[in-house]
Amino acid sequence: MERLLRGLLFCLLGLGLMTTEAFEVQVKDGSNTTCTHASMSVNFTIRYETESGTNRSVTFSAPDEVTTIGSTCGTSDDAALLVVNFVNNHSWSVNFTRNSTMYSIDMIVFTYNTNDSTLFPDAKRKGLLTTVKSVNDPIPINATYTCLQQKDVITDNVVQVYWNVSLLAYAQGVTIKREFHCSEDAPTTHAPTTHIVTTTTPKPTPKPEDKPSIGNYFVISSKGKCLMATMGLQLNASVFVSGHNVWTTRNINPNSTISSGSCSNESALLRLNDSDTILEFSFSLRQKNFYLHEVNVTFANGSGISHISNNNLSFWEASVGKSYLCHKEQMIVVSEDLSINTFEVRVQPFDVNNATYGAAEDCFADSDLSFLIPIVMGAVLVFLIILVFVSYLIGRQKSRTGYQSV
Ligand SMILES: *[C@@H]1O[C@H](CO)[C@@H](O)[C@H](O)[C@H]1NC(C)=O
Ligand SMILES: *[C@@H]1O[C@H](CO)[C@@H](O)[C@H](O)[C@H]1NC(C)=O
Ligand SMILES: *[C@@H]1O[C@H](CO)[C@@H](O)[C@H](O)[C@H]1NC(C)=O
Ligand SMILES: *[C@@H]1O[C@H](CO)[C@@H](O)[C@H](O)[C@H]1NC(C)=O
Ligand SMILES: *[C@@H]1O[C@H](CO)[C@@H](O)[C@H](O)[C@H]1NC(C)=O
Ligand SMILES: *[C@@H]1O[C@H](CO)[C@@H](O)[C@H](O)[C@H]1NC(C)=O
Ligand SMILES: *[C@@H]1O[C@H](CO)[C@@H](O)[C@H](O)[C@H]1NC(C)=O
Ligand SMILES: *[C@@H]1O[C@H](CO)[C@@H](O)[C@H](O)[C@H]1NC(C)=O
Repeated sequence: MERLLRGLLFCLLGLGLMTTEAFEVQVKDGSNTTCTHASMSVNFTIRYETESGTNRSVTFSAPDEVTTIGSTCGTSDDAALLVVNFVNNHSWSVNFTRNSTMYSIDMIVFTYNTNDSTLFPDAKRKGLLTTVKSVNDPIPINATYTCLQQKDVITDNVVQVYWNVSLLAYAQGVTIKREFHCSEDAPTTHAPTTHIVTTTTPKPTPKPEDKPSIGNYFVISSKGKCLMATMGLQLNASVFVSGHNVWTTRNINPNSTISSGSCSNESALLRLNDSDTILEFSFSLRQKNFYLHEVNVTFANGSGISHISNNNLSFWEASVGKSYLCHKEQMIVVSEDLSINTFEVRVQPFDVNNATYGAAEDCFADSDLSFLIPIVMGAVLVFLIILVFVSYLIGRQKSRTGYQSV
């Protein structure tokens, strides 16, 4: 009955808003028992290269009409898999992991077919392209993951925008009423867009975001940890909202950030992937020092994917084999539209031994107080000169009185 009503609601919504498409699917096991149930709306925005070498973006919605061929309920050894096939060989799939109390989506795999000439009329690379995103949002067993609010998932060239998501895996046929809501649905984070604001209510001024949490990130090579970084990160971007550009900040949440990267003798890369943002930090060497020379940021800006990079930076310099340490807040200007505020940075991109930081080189020297160092040294020198002079005078005085007493 509830499902019927929901179906009816979707139909009505579909009639009212032709652009709101949503699919609803069920996967059953051999004994005709439902193991996975999912319904959601998804928009995909894909950036691709055209024949002429320019980049173009296309957006399409996951259609109502889908199949679930390829889906499995999973066994004790194999993960459950939900495959949703769209027209023209585009598809979306998720596989799951579970333990006795929680389950979670492991990976979201989205495959798009650039041979689809209506969506990708002049794509340079033709064929099935796949983008993978790992997720780790534990959901209690026997609860339906529910996310009514918009949630973005970003990978290299694709932004997936989800809303009205309902997802239940490992259902074992039981009707489950328990809902587990995403953090976006929490009352405090509700977007006020649908509320009618009466004229008497004062408009809340946007509250500046708190400082970001400090995250520990690392890159692993065959020899163990080869790059380590501890820091809090906050993006400050100029975005276009209702007719004008406004600066908005966004904290990187270490709990939902996946770090990866690479290490070599001459360069090192740290890649941080938070749900809708990718940050890349590239380190280089000059003489016996390392420094941050390039930053790439990819994020959803509301209307598409922004990719902003700067390879002419010079931050976080310290000796190879040591670590760079900075307690004070710093601002890395990536472009005129984007900067990154960093907090409590400690980073070592080369020569990491036993997964521990080398001796720290503090950024105090290049801090605002650095002008004090010559002043202090000068003052000490002047003091020493005066001291020597005074003791000379006293010495002379003493010896003179000494002679007189004889
Ligand atoms: C599975 O159950 C549905 C109703 O829930 C029924 O229509 C269908 O015939 C069943 N299929 C098999 C193979 O038993
Ligand atoms: C889920 O799928 C991805 C990509 O196909 C694979 O790498 C991963 O091992 C799978 N996870 C599980 C738990 O099977
Ligand atoms: C964000 O950048 C703008 C422009 O540089 C600046 O005015 C604003 O104070 C910055 N906000 C934060 C929180 O750093
Ligand atoms: C991250 O997780 C820790 C422990 O689970 C929690 O205390 C902290 O508040 C979380 N941070 C954020 C920004 O969600
Ligand atoms: C990197 O350094 C190691 C040890 O110093 C050396 O054995 C290796 O040949 C170097 N690799 C390259 C590509 O220079
Ligand atoms: C950063 O972006 C630039 C320009 O898009 C690209 O050439 C470079 O390879 C990127 N760097 C990394 C580490 O991905
Ligand atoms: C958002 O990204 C799109 C695609 O890259 C770009 O055309 C648009 O100018 C960006 N908007 C803002 C406000 O940066
Ligand atoms: C790189 O930065 C340096 C110093 O900030 C500046 O002098 C130089 O013009 C920049 N180069 C480019 C290509 O932007």
